[in-house]
Amino acid sequence: MSTPDRRPRRTFAVISHPDAGKSTLTEALALHARAIQEAGAVHGKSGRKGTVSDWMEMEQQRGISITSAALQFEYDGHVINLVDTPGHSDFSEDTYRVLSAVDSAVMLVDAARGMEPQTLKLFKVCALRGIPVITVINKWDRPGLDPLELMDLIEQQIGLRPTPITWPVGESGDFKGVLDRTTGEFVQYTRTAGGATIAPERRMGSDEALEVEGDLWAVAVDGDELLAADGADHDQEAFLAGRTTPVMFASALLNFGVAQLLERLLELAPAPHALETVEGTPREVDDDFSAFVFKVQSGMNAAHRDRLAYARVCSGTFERGMVVTHGPSGKPFATKYAQAVFGRELSSVETASPGDIIGLVNANALRVGDTVYVGDPVTYPPIATFAPEHFVTCTASDISKDKQFRKGVEQLDQEGVVQVLRSDLRGDRSPVLAAVGPMQFEVVQARMEAEFNCPVRLSPLGFALARRTDKDALDVLSTIRGVEVLERRDGSLLALFPDQWRATKTERDHPDITLEALAAG
Ligand code: G4P
Repeated sequence: MSTPDRRPRRTFAVISHPDAGKSTLTEALALHARAIQEAGAVHGKSGRKGTVSDWMEMEQQRGISITSAALQFEYDGHVINLVDTPGHSDFSEDTYRVLSAVDSAVMLVDAARGMEPQTLKLFKVCALRGIPVITVINKWDRPGLDPLELMDLIEQQIGLRPTPITWPVGESGDFKGVLDRTTGEFVQYTRTAGGATIAPERRMGSDEALEVEGDLWAVAVDGDELLAADGADHDQEAFLAGRTTPVMFASALLNFGVAQLLERLLELAPAPHALETVEGTPREVDDDFSAFVFKVQSGMNAAHRDRLAYARVCSGTFERGMVVTHGPSGKPFATKYAQAVFGRELSSVETASPGDIIGLVNANALRVGDTVYVGDPVTYPPIATFAPEHFVTCTASDISKDKQFRKGVEQLDQEGVVQVLRSDLRGDRSPVLAAVGPMQFEVVQARMEAEFNCPVRLSPLGFALARRTDKDALDVLSTIRGVEVLERRDGSLLALFPDQWRATKTERDHPDITLEALAAG
């Protein structure tokens, strides 16, 4: 038996709008932890996989998932698991599910753009799950908004109180360093060529800072005092309870502020903790092994049919080769080929501890939300499905392939690639597919053809949002033009509306019928 790894864990994800600098920050974090020698090795330009076609090509070449992988590295005696959210054009339900596998999130905000739509959506998921959020204002080396104005914007949009931990010295575009609000010191940054290596930092007291930076330091001190007078100081309890968000200023590109972020992650972000099971009892982290699957990925290449299931270890120690029980079926599942995921490389994992992410190979029986365990059976609460915003009908291009069509749609529904909605009226040959992001449809199209030998035609529908409803509302809803009610696999009924206006009007006109917003919608 291998000895369990008892180093403390921090498992988090970076949430941001595309282009805020998530890949750059990921590289910078790994660089600081010396997991890689030079920034660029993990998500570097040459290997950057931002587009749908790249993603699929990658799948084909390797037959493995490159999305939602976790980057694991050691920093100051801790193991850090950075769970990657697919965040570019491939924004989808997967992005949300990843957040069920983390204990905290770093919300990356572009200093010039402030809060952007995807950041806000992802933030809402964190809020819903009670995941504490640390905010990083990125790109401070470029002209952007005033820091106090940014704090106001964030507070208005997310409703959490920003409590800056560092405050910038030099306005955006002239980043000299930060005032460390816990010690009052100046942390001066020095540029390195292209930001490819760790930027040297020098700490100094207030007097020296004033000598070195003059007015810029004085302005930062004023800001710090204003914040303190306003009660915007970090409070660990309020942060963990989701009432405040510590804020830090950085330039991921220049590696400024990255070391502080790592240090604060260790200091403030919660460690893996006991999870509540469906029975309402907690499974303590040092109980027997248990993990839940938050993502399942099939190889796109016909030669690699194996499914890879990403699971987060919740309790106990995982050891490669151990036979675990698959919760829903009660059947044993062998873990001979379990893998750890490091950037784009998969390597064999020997042991894993709570907070770690493992990739289970040959996972044909595993579905998103399933639990695997040893010892006492355990089931964790289901991962919520999210409010779809894109709807299409899906039909087999060749109607003689009905069998393959049904099988494929069923499987993709089960895997949660899209939500499949049905009604008697539409029949089984042309169900409605619903997605959070349109890329989910492209995956359906590619996989139906490659895996099920059944090319499909997708036709957009003019719906923009869904509300959960019930049977009692059917009569009323059937009289409203442009509204359609369909059934989801879990039996719930969704009313689809062409726009917000129509949904609001229906709610107003018929206050007695059930029309509930879906989670994070
Ligand atoms: P993403 O993963 O969140 O989509 O963002 P990514 O890291 O790819 O960064 C988006 C762009 O923003 C990149 O520029 C990147 O270099 C730049 N960037 C990231 N962090 C910072 C920062 O702290 N300061 C400045 N000034 N720029 C930053 P690009 O021109 O789109 O790509 P590239 O050609 O530089 O790779």
